[in-house]
Amino acid sequence: MSDSNNKTASGSTTGAGAPAQSDRNSLTVGANGPILLHDVHFLEQMAHFNREKVPERQPHAKGAGAFGVFETTEDVSKYTKAALFQKACKTEMLARFSTVAGEAGSPDTWRDVRGFSLKFYTDEGNYDLVGNNTPVFFVRDPMKFPHFIRSQKRLPDSGLRDNHMQWDFWTNNPETAHQVTYLMGERGLPRTWRHMNGYGSHTYMWVNAAGEKFWVKYHFHTNQGMAFFNNAEASEMAGKDADFHRRDLFDAIARGEHPSWILSVQVMPYADAKNYRFNPFDLTKTWSHKDYPLIKVGTMTLNRNPENFFAQIEQAAFSPGNIVPGIGLSPDKMLLGRAFAYNDAQRNRIGTNFHQLPVNRPKVPVNTYMFDGQMAYEHSGNAPVYVPNSGGRPWADETGKTEDGWEADGDMVRQAYTLHPEDDDFGQPGTLVRDVFNDAQRSALIEQVAGSLLGGVRSPVLERAFDYWKSIDADVGRRIEEKVRSGQAPEPAAGEGEA
Ligand code: HEM
Repeated sequence: MSDSNNKTASGSTTGAGAPAQSDRNSLTVGANGPILLHDVHFLEQMAHFNREKVPERQPHAKGAGAFGVFETTEDVSKYTKAALFQKACKTEMLARFSTVAGEAGSPDTWRDVRGFSLKFYTDEGNYDLVGNNTPVFFVRDPMKFPHFIRSQKRLPDSGLRDNHMQWDFWTNNPETAHQVTYLMGERGLPRTWRHMNGYGSHTYMWVNAAGEKFWVKYHFHTNQGMAFFNNAEASEMAGKDADFHRRDLFDAIARGEHPSWILSVQVMPYADAKNYRFNPFDLTKTWSHKDYPLIKVGTMTLNRNPENFFAQIEQAAFSPGNIVPGIGLSPDKMLLGRAFAYNDAQRNRIGTNFHQLPVNRPKVPVNTYMFDGQMAYEHSGNAPVYVPNSGGRPWADETGKTEDGWEADGDMVRQAYTLHPEDDDFGQPGTLVRDVFNDAQRSALIEQVAGSLLGGVRSPVLERAFDYWKSIDADVGRRIEEKVRSGQAPEPAAGEGEA
């Protein structure tokens, strides 16, 4: 209890603030007699305990985070008018890192993509960037997302994780190839959260003060250097310390070692999007750095641990829909699906008024026309609850404002994106394994995939997996098949092959 006016600070209290009679003995009729219903303090303790958990996040349940500051060190005002990205602006922020598929108590070092969620408390409202430690994603239409997540979670009958189910989904959706290549490579086992990069992954829009629009991709490069575990190290750590990544970040900050990342962006002129060789809004693709080189923006430093995990991390609500003037969404269908999904999940997970909690509350005054609901805390007194009103309460000023949107024209359809000249599912992952991975990284990838396939993947998914890898790279696919056929099973990575 931090309230210094609390007159009963020498002892515990009931929720209503009265001194508690005892924290050890319930009220009974005689020392051995029955417990009495009017032991309000005991009943309150029990009832609240029964309700002290909130549902875990549907994906990304296991994670932790810290507070920090983002400083814009460069002048990028010709691309965006966003206040937080004006040179010398310092913005308080919160970061949360996570695994995707594991539950709230699962080991930090199981092979997985890692979440990289950022909330910037800007002078123009909260800006959230909810990305991963990889620049691409598994699917390109939000309709597929629930199916994808379920395929990574647990079987309906046994409740086990299942490699067969994962590969079944991946090989039936070849667009997963790029992200699966990242996942099966080093990025799937970051050594610590401090030693991984982060990406916005999607294409976003930036708008400058003159109203000019650009497409951007965010890259956060770790100043600690990238470092990874191998399978054996990760498995060992999963057994030794399931919270290794959480502990590492907390301890580093407590020691005064404040991890930092440089933010750079790739900027594409608005008009280039139409004819770029890859669909720039397809989340399974990257943009060539030769075509769009990195432009430095600033530095993010994490320097303050949470004081209370539940209040500040578990109840934190990030949403890609939280954008501020100078930043917009894009035609990426995944991003548009996400703009809805997160706050909806949080209304269920935390409660209707999750935005009023201190960790989620913007640092700027709020004048929202959302009222009441469970656990409503903030209110606007007797001010009008409708617009337009004659009571002097302001409402949205629409003069001179244009949505940071883009042109759209056409019939309503349910169709995949129109292909750009070099769009295909296997080209970029092929380049990744051939031109970016070195020999050792390629061999480790082959070992990992073979081990994963040997962890219970059956026909016809197995044959489809061989074809999938041969489509990425003929030689890599052949080597994976040889390893699997000869039964050379390396130890499956932690979290795999239980079924
Ligand atoms: C249509 C696709 C997607 C949907 C519907 C979706 C939905 C969700 C939902 C419902 C949550 C839990 C939110 C909460 O309870 O607070 C979540 C968490 C998360 N998602 Fe997604 N997601 C999608 C795609 C992605 C993509 C593409 C990325 C990364 C590029 C991503 C990164 C994350 C991260 C990092 C979290 C954890 C947020 C936190 O730290 O609190 N998701 N997602």
